[in-house]
Amino acid sequence: MSLLELDGVKVHFPIKKGILFDRTVGHVYAVDGVSLKVEAGETYGLVGESGCGKTTLGRSVLRLVDITEGSVVLDGTDLAKLPSEEMRRFRRRLQMVFQDPLGSLNPRQNIESILSEGMVAHGIGKDQEERREKIKSILDKVGLPSNALSRYPHEFSGGQRQRIGIARALVLEPDVIICDEPVSALDVSVQAQVINLLEELQEELGLTYVVIAHDLAVVRHISDTIGVMYLGSLVEEAPSDALYAEPKHPYTKALMSAVPVPDPEVEDKRERILLTGDLPSPANPPSGCRFHTRCPWAQAERCATERPELRDVGGGHRVACHFAEEIESGKLGLTRPTGIEAVTESEDVVVEQAEDEAEVPAALLPADSTTKPDAAAVKDKVPAAAETPGDRTADAVAKDRDAAAPDASGKEKEQDKTG
Ligand SMILES: Nc1ncnc2c1ncn2[C@@H]1O[C@H](COP(=O)(O)OP(=O)(O)O)[C@@H](O)[C@H]1O
Ligand code: SF4
Ligand SMILES: [Mg+2]
Repeated sequence: MSLLELDGVKVHFPIKKGILFDRTVGHVYAVDGVSLKVEAGETYGLVGESGCGKTTLGRSVLRLVDITEGSVVLDGTDLAKLPSEEMRRFRRRLQMVFQDPLGSLNPRQNIESILSEGMVAHGIGKDQEERREKIKSILDKVGLPSNALSRYPHEFSGGQRQRIGIARALVLEPDVIICDEPVSALDVSVQAQVINLLEELQEELGLTYVVIAHDLAVVRHISDTIGVMYLGSLVEEAPSDALYAEPKHPYTKALMSAVPVPDPEVEDKRERILLTGDLPSPANPPSGCRFHTRCPWAQAERCATERPELRDVGGGHRVACHFAEEIESGKLGLTRPTGIEAVTESEDVVVEQAEDEAEVPAALLPADSTTKPDAAAVKDKVPAAAETPGDRTADAVAKDRDAAAPDASGKEKEQDKTG
């Protein structure tokens, strides 16, 4: 059995409408049936463009969002069914490192206080003296001086702050660390240092990671296995090397074709697969294969009506495409343009695509999500609760959730009566 196993995980957020009585008028299918396994001591990289459900999936593992359906089994225990009291104990074993290191550290607490908080909550260390010794040794491991203890978050650089975020997870001796875009907010020059640190720590402490990123380059070297997400589901999963050498799902092929190659000669000849249209809304996902509205190989009928299962196609790949083999052998030709005309003439070609203006697809733009044309729109759609939880730890967020839970269900009942 793997250390962490997700089976058919769905997270559907209700869309509410109405001033007096909240009526559920639809759902955001943020995560819609994800099954994956994370082996002890390994790294699972989760990639996909902004809004495809990566963060929600990560948060569902820690039960920071309600799991609509499916199971999350850590070391033999299904967390999805655990009463909240017991879940609190399990939370120590699952830690999260957030994208924005400054936003996730309380500016009014010094580093010792930030790092001891979780230890006190989970009963680690018999007194502050013992906790301080442990914190010092962890700070040393993440490459921070021990005089950092009495300093405040604003006194550190971005990279150092992310080291503090990692230290905060490590002092709790977790089994699994979920790193959500751990380097996206950092300068490119610092990104590699933080990724290297994560790798060194993994080797030394035998840690298990789930690393979430929208940038394929970030997860490439650190991951043993990579899962590619599109609109709430996995479309392909393979050992890292196999995925890079031979992507098999049309969406992965397109993503991969956008990754620059260091060799200028190869780079010049690199053929990009540009996708028509934008990422559809997860509140109204396309029927059949979710990718059929943009897939350059989409076939009439079957692709629009039958949802493909993630199935083993050999070479370590699991692919959710009816025609993976035919596309690979060249038996199936393109049904949509993939060159520049894909983004300039997309309104003519795209079947069933919303009447949105044709833009360069987000996935194929440079890694920085803030430069994506739809980044702002995606952000708008994310309610405050879905954002990186400011200066609060996963534990604090969880506490709030647990406290709010009876309230929410009360509301649900009221709505049932009136609706
Ligand atoms: N609490 C929430 N309520 C409603 N919709 C949400 C919530 N959290 C996330 N979403 C929506 O779910 C989808 C997936 O979001 P997210 O998991 O943040 O994606 P990613 O991390 O891949 O960018 C987005 O459309 C987002 O707007
Ligand atoms: S099932 Fe059809 S639409 Fe989906 S990826 Fe395969 S060829 Fe493209
Ligand atoms: Mg995210």
